[in-house]
Amino acid sequence: MDWGMKNRLSKLVRPQTGRSIWLAMDHGYFLGPVQRLEKPGVTVKPLLPYADAIMLTRGVLRNCIDPDTSPPVILRVSGGNSIQGDDLSNETLLAGINDALRLNVAAVAFSIYIGAKYEHQTLVGLSNLINQAQEYGIPVLAVTAVGKELAKRDVKFLSLSCRIAAELGAQIIKTYYCEDFQKVVESSPVPLVIAGGPKLKTETDALQLAYDALKSGAIGVDMGRNIWQSRNSLAMIKSIRHIVHENASVEDAKKLFESLKK
Ligand code: R5P
Repeated sequence: MDWGMKNRLSKLVRPQTGRSIWLAMDHGYFLGPVQRLEKPGVTVKPLLPYADAIMLTRGVLRNCIDPDTSPPVILRVSGGNSIQGDDLSNETLLAGINDALRLNVAAVAFSIYIGAKYEHQTLVGLSNLINQAQEYGIPVLAVTAVGKELAKRDVKFLSLSCRIAAELGAQIIKTYYCEDFQKVVESSPVPLVIAGGPKLKTETDALQLAYDALKSGAIGVDMGRNIWQSRNSLAMIKSIRHIVHENASVEDAKKLFESLKK
């Protein structure tokens, strides 16, 4: 692996622990102003020191994030769909490698939609992006999207999606946690991180989700709503970080959360 690629990956995955906690805040690219991300810069500002990286679009990056203090950036470069449209899988490359380089990103992220109407378009799009990104040593994060069909998140579908993303050359994959998640991990020759998904009932549920995913072999989390939609988002990111980088149990992370919450 080339030096630039290795260097970028070392910014994303902490060499000391081999793990990562990324803050996902790219939701607006198809959902618009989701709750608590109406002013993304304001919401995430206190959380940034505790994120190993942020995942977002170039529009929010340029307008809402201070370049002097930003954590490493995972730039979402696919889109072209919206929650109002016919089919969420109709996604393609929007932001090019030149802009990714200009923004000094640590990685670029592209969604694939296995089994969906535009599966082929997203797989070819991912492959083309990997071809370009490799030229410049930029890692590609493949996102195994499910669109509106959250029930798709099972071991069979996620193993299939992750394996295909790895076969096409993605360096890291973002997927969902599911029952028997270790089988999804085993099916992929490259590391997996998990999304949090829609906000869970309690913060403890989200801590448990992070803990279970790591225990099953994920190398980290790329979590959004379960952090910044919490009324105690700062306590939440610190508690998730405790699990990710300090191997804390759910009980210990919960104690930390309770001690920090307002
Ligand atoms: C979805 O495609 C986006 O990439 C989100 O960043 C992702 O779902 C992670 O955010 P959350 O933890 O809120 O699910």
